[in-house]
Amino acid sequence: MSTSEQQPLGERRGKRGVFRTKSVEQSIRDTEEPEHALKKSLTALDLTVFGVGVVIGTGIFVLTGKVAKENAGPAVSLAFVLAGVVCGLAALCYAEFASTVPVAGSAYTFSYASLGELPAWIIGWDLILELALGCAVVAVGWSGYIRSLLDNAGWHLPVSLQGTHEGHFGFDILACALVLALTVILVLGMKLSSRVTAVVVAVKVTVVLIVIIVGAFFINGANYEPFIPKSQGTTAGSDIKAPLVQLMFGFSPSNFGVMGIFSAAAVVFFAFIGFDIVATAAEETRNPQRDVPRGILGSLAICTLLYVAVSVVVTGMQKYSELSTDAPLADAFKATGHPFWAGLISFGAAVGLTTVCMILLLGQSRVFFAMSRDGLLPRIFSRVHPKYGTPYRSTILLGVVVAVLAGFTSIDVLAELVNIGTLFAFVVVALGVVILRRTRPDLPRAFRTPLVPAVPVLSVVASVWLMLNLTAETWLRFAAWMVLGCVLYFVYGKRHSRVP
Ligand code: ALA
Repeated sequence: MSTSEQQPLGERRGKRGVFRTKSVEQSIRDTEEPEHALKKSLTALDLTVFGVGVVIGTGIFVLTGKVAKENAGPAVSLAFVLAGVVCGLAALCYAEFASTVPVAGSAYTFSYASLGELPAWIIGWDLILELALGCAVVAVGWSGYIRSLLDNAGWHLPVSLQGTHEGHFGFDILACALVLALTVILVLGMKLSSRVTAVVVAVKVTVVLIVIIVGAFFINGANYEPFIPKSQGTTAGSDIKAPLVQLMFGFSPSNFGVMGIFSAAAVVFFAFIGFDIVATAAEETRNPQRDVPRGILGSLAICTLLYVAVSVVVTGMQKYSELSTDAPLADAFKATGHPFWAGLISFGAAVGLTTVCMILLLGQSRVFFAMSRDGLLPRIFSRVHPKYGTPYRSTILLGVVVAVLAGFTSIDVLAELVNIGTLFAFVVVALGVVILRRTRPDLPRAFRTPLVPAVPVLSVVASVWLMLNLTAETWLRFAAWMVLGCVLYFVYGKRHSRVP
């Protein structure tokens, strides 16, 4: 049956060409084709565990120290609050979309239903960047923790297998092996993945609670002075390394002070990435209309509370200027003379980062799967495994690519690139909510974003503001990735799209 025969009037008003939209009904029907259908086995609790599993990771375990030391001082906790607010606004928009269009692919699918094919492609391409690079970054962070545990036990990896550090080139064998192992788990099936995730998430949350509760006894109030260190000019690099907003308004680039809190928020934003990925599992959820919004908002609320508490405690334990940039949480315990707790925290961090990697990989393969099912990428990638019910081809292809990336990349630059990509997706989703309310007011919405259009508009403004606080260099890299994506769309996707 043709799409137009089944479309109600509102649905047919769609545009043609690169702005043609794929109706919500069509998206849902596609999920019912047996060859391309995913198993529906997840509950709200599974989703919240998934959310927390992917959200708490390198951001809190590694970036907190770096950002406190270089950008914000003890006010890093305010940066977490700011980033949390930006994510909260976006989460309200994601929740409405996910409850209206419960289909694999997250922001990609939402945009296809509301903004049109080209914007949807751009978002899908953008999400692949976010998830693939994010996974590689976290795998590299994980490998650092494992090496430090191995070193404690007296086992030292050859330098050439330790990855690239401070100009010295090496292959990061641990990061690469982690990604490959997780790819196998994902191919074997969602249920196994969520069980493994549940155990690891429990370990990770316990470790974070230990930092907060035990660490609170070692706080020295003097470390909070000054809470917002005075703004300092920076000569670091030329203009290209300064936040875009500082260049636009002609400020001389600086760290700390109030502007420093904003730059810090744009970086620690990485710590929140992942709640949006809960939406990518909508199609594998038993009751997505009710459970996806619960999963998204629940995991975000839990993580925000934990982050603010951790950053307050850690900057109270150690002077911000002395925090370590590799393992700040564990090292703050070492610095206060408690190596036992430090070891436990390193162990928990290493265990915890595995789930982050796994869920980023999962989200990424689902976006790729959705794009392939629509014909924008080759269709062979959207066949599900006859026995395991998982999109094994896209999972394996992307798993191998990310494993190689993880072997060769270093963390710093890539984390910013991941952030700009994610914030861009937030902007599109917020616009999509407003557009879909106007073009398809008839659709059932189990969750409605409050105060539309005020909340989506605020979400756009807040996300753009954080994007502007990222460096000009990051903007250039992001633009290059997007130009490449547009070329691919016009050469392949546009011609093979299944939407008439
Ligand atoms: N939010 C995830 C992390 O911090 C990506 O590692």
